[in-house]
Amino acid sequence: MQIKTADDLARMRDAGRVVRAVLDTLVAAAVPGVSTSELDRIAESRTRELGAVPSFKGYLGYPASVCISVNEEVVHGIPSEKRLLRDGDVVGLDFGAVVGGFHGDAAETVLVGRASPEAERLVAATRAALAAGVAAARAGGRVGDIGAAVQRSAESAGFSVVREFVGHGIGRKLHEPPQVPNFGEPGTGAWLRPGLVLAIEPMLNAGLPGIRTLEDGWTAVTEDGSLSAHFEHTVAITDGGPEILTRMGT
Ligand code: MF3
Ligand code: CO
Repeated sequence: MQIKTADDLARMRDAGRVVRAVLDTLVAAAVPGVSTSELDRIAESRTRELGAVPSFKGYLGYPASVCISVNEEVVHGIPSEKRLLRDGDVVGLDFGAVVGGFHGDAAETVLVGRASPEAERLVAATRAALAAGVAAARAGGRVGDIGAAVQRSAESAGFSVVREFVGHGIGRKLHEPPQVPNFGEPGTGAWLRPGLVLAIEPMLNAGLPGIRTLEDGWTAVTEDGSLSAHFEHTVAITDGGPEILTRMGT
């Protein structure tokens, strides 16, 4: 596991700020009638304006700058000219950028127009599950504390946790050890130390936890067709507690 220096952390804060700015732009642009490809172009141009480079484009052959996952899509949805957002859609926006050699990574799920009460509950519960995971990201704790906190929060709200995708260490590489599952047992797994930076990213389904991947090789969807939501922050573990590098207002 890569422990960041004070200098590394300063650069990761810059990356986190860029990711937050681009996500805020995308959230504002996610209105009925916009295509997910248009959102991808907005993400890439805003990123370049800010002097950064999108992390996902070309990563393992991924073809776009942002992952946009609508309704029953869980994560890794590929932007398309044909996919126009509609009133009531549940839209996951997942974005990463590199600044000064360090990555930031974050995701938000937004409701387009008027959403169903179930969609609102799912999105609120996923946001809360991320907050619970972040609160458990403390020096002296273990990686399993984070997963246990996320799982407990999600399941107590009546939603299920996706097992196939996990959070991750992040730094000079988008994905570094350790893996950060959104389920597990407290007091297990790697020790959390100051200078460790993690991307914590719960994915919650309204129905069963199972997923499958579409023929495009990327888009993960719920097996039962139920709605899914995803939130993510890049979080530094410090002596003073978790520092969210992709928080609003940083
Ligand atoms: N936030 C996701 C992750 O950290 C997005 C990766 S998409 C990819 O794994 F295209 F870059 F693979
Ligand atoms: Co991530």
